[in-house]
Amino acid sequence: MSGIVGQEAPALVQRCVRCRKDYPADNIRPNCECGGLLDVEQPQPELRNGELRSLFEGRRHVDHGPFASGVWRFGELILAGAVERAVTQPEGNTPLLNRPTVSAFAGIENLLLKHEGHNPTGSFKDRGMTVAVTQARRVGATALACATTGNTGASLAAYGALAGLRALILVPRDGIATGKLAQVLAYGGRVVLVRGDFDACLRLVREAVDELGVYLVNSINPFRLEGQKTIVLELLQQLQWQAPDWIVFPAGNLGNAAAFGKALREARAWGLIDRMPRLAAVQAEGAAPFARSFRDGFRTRHQVVAQTVASAIRIGNPASYDRAVTAIRETDGVVTTATDPEILDAKAVVDAAGVGCEPASAASIAGVRRLAREGIISKGERVVAVLTGHLLKDPTLVTWYHAEAEPRPAYANRPAEIEPTMTDLARIAR
Ligand code: F0G
Repeated sequence: MSGIVGQEAPALVQRCVRCRKDYPADNIRPNCECGGLLDVEQPQPELRNGELRSLFEGRRHVDHGPFASGVWRFGELILAGAVERAVTQPEGNTPLLNRPTVSAFAGIENLLLKHEGHNPTGSFKDRGMTVAVTQARRVGATALACATTGNTGASLAAYGALAGLRALILVPRDGIATGKLAQVLAYGGRVVLVRGDFDACLRLVREAVDELGVYLVNSINPFRLEGQKTIVLELLQQLQWQAPDWIVFPAGNLGNAAAFGKALREARAWGLIDRMPRLAAVQAEGAAPFARSFRDGFRTRHQVVAQTVASAIRIGNPASYDRAVTAIRETDGVVTTATDPEILDAKAVVDAAGVGCEPASAASIAGVRRLAREGIISKGERVVAVLTGHLLKDPTLVTWYHAEAEPRPAYANRPAEIEPTMTDLARIAR
């Protein structure tokens, strides 16, 4: 193995984001005793600036072992001591796409789509899960657990299977998209349908850490966020470390907001980039407690009963609130919202470009469009929008939008039905 990863790694600590108390790297409790969440405190890498960039560049086309992963390629900045024993599929290496029809819809000339739906289980969750499950093995965990709107569960079930560890997956009974439920069942996770919403599932699984001794892999777990930092690191690498003006993403439980802010803070401190992009978090209008807090200058932490067609981000009490506030403040970021019809129309445009994404992911594009219209993003700025999940995650909503929704949505592609005759077919085909 090449590079500096094989050397004795400096010890990591976990630090409370609220009271700054330190915990050892092998601490398995997700919270500080003060109730705050923990962050992994990364040591200064031995290499800096150009040397660090060259190290990562040299691994870019490796096709076997941990460096074939778009997460572990950046191992020194993630979980240095664990690279050789990583539980990896591999994951990451997702494309950065330019699609003129999507740019035109959003009203931005220079728009790129970072498509995380290309990960092994079809969402960005694999980037955090490879690190959390690797850490779970290091601390000797025997059972893993999460609350999920579906994608975290699909990813946990897959990586749990890879690691040979049991996975307990709590989902809101009426709130999981078909593709995701199918995945969790198929990968062999223990599916628990909870009669409650995501927020209720998360409350319950947090209690299970003490009561049942399970290792929690929700994005509360700081190692998940370390993996998710690589969405940003990888897109910066794809842009030759020339930071874009904006990174726009859907926001639910606020794990990505936290991870992206941390990635940018570290990338700047270690000389990988010389200026900060601005973060724009987009919430569905019916599930927008963070946007509400943003509007009042983060004076109040809000909670709502969440309602949106974008089930992945149907979350009313986001866990990573404190970390996400820091991320938005440090990047001069913004938080905005998109209505369900705006999300569905944006999705239809992304889908019809031959790209495809799940509903929550399209909130990114709906958000760019709104921010461009409001003049917050200017037409010439360079924008990267993150598409967080694959089109096939939620096929039910796709067929409803195109075949059934009334009044007919703007981009509906209605199927035609005919008798088995050439007359009928010719009429349709013309
Ligand atoms: N996009 C997709 C496709 C998601 O699955 C999620 C979260 C988000 C965006 C929001 O990201 O929570 O970091 O703000 N899904 C979680 C799950 C809640 O259980 O799969 P976030």
